[in-house]
Amino acid sequence: FGREAVYFDAIASTQNEAHRRAEAGAPEGLVVIADVQTGGRGRLGRSWHSPPETGIWMSLVLRPDVPLPRVPQLTLVAAVSLADTLAACTGLSVGIKWPNDLLAGGRKVCGILTELAAEADRVHYVILGIGLNVNQTEEDFPPELRARAGSLAMAAGRSFSRVALAQRMLEGLEADYDDYLQKGFAPFKRRWEARAVSLGQRVVARTPGGDFVGIARGIDDDGALLLEQANGALRKIYSADLDL
Ligand code: BTN
Repeated sequence: FGREAVYFDAIASTQNEAHRRAEAGAPEGLVVIADVQTGGRGRLGRSWHSPPETGIWMSLVLRPDVPLPRVPQLTLVAAVSLADTLAACTGLSVGIKWPNDLLAGGRKVCGILTELAAEADRVHYVILGIGLNVNQTEEDFPPELRARAGSLAMAAGRSFSRVALAQRMLEGLEADYDDYLQKGFAPFKRRWEARAVSLGQRVVARTPGGDFVGIARGIDDDGALLLEQANGALRKIYSADLDL
């Protein structure tokens, strides 16, 4: 991944640019990366704070030959891959909060946004958007984010080379993506569960259909969170924010 890359000093959103390029036939592995985003997008329609020279804002074009229902697995594969790479590069302990937020020092340092174009059950392409807070200090975050958002530098007490990290992330993603296509999801499910911060804990899943309280028990093969409710029944959660 990243052998073909387009770099922007400033852009509204690398995600939108990657969609445009994928529609125009960009090959798998193309990376769109920018120093600053003026309209960075997050999950669930939120915005993503992407100030200059502090983070890694990039979107990757993938063309996986998998049926549509397996695409959520790809997001979890990416989360595991990035968590392992970042832990290895920084020495930090990196946890995953379902579905794919990466936490270090108790705060979210990385978010992943997976979007796809498909027709019937056939996937045309997937855009994997990665926002990694690398060298921000607490003051670099808007006040409303300070309690929950952090950077690798804040967690480690030193700064990191964004170029070196981005290279290692892309290498790791490529190797894990190939592994996933060959061997399937089972090994990644185990790796994901080993890094998950919420398993066995009581959580509140805030879904579009309301809040559900329960114990997080694991993930299903389709990427859903398995929530054990008070009556003992397991509820599958597909889209939510998790409060720990
Ligand atoms: C999340 O809400 O946790 C996902 C955040 C994803 C942010 C990245 S930054 C690069 C890419 N371009 C965007 O506009 N969003 C993603």
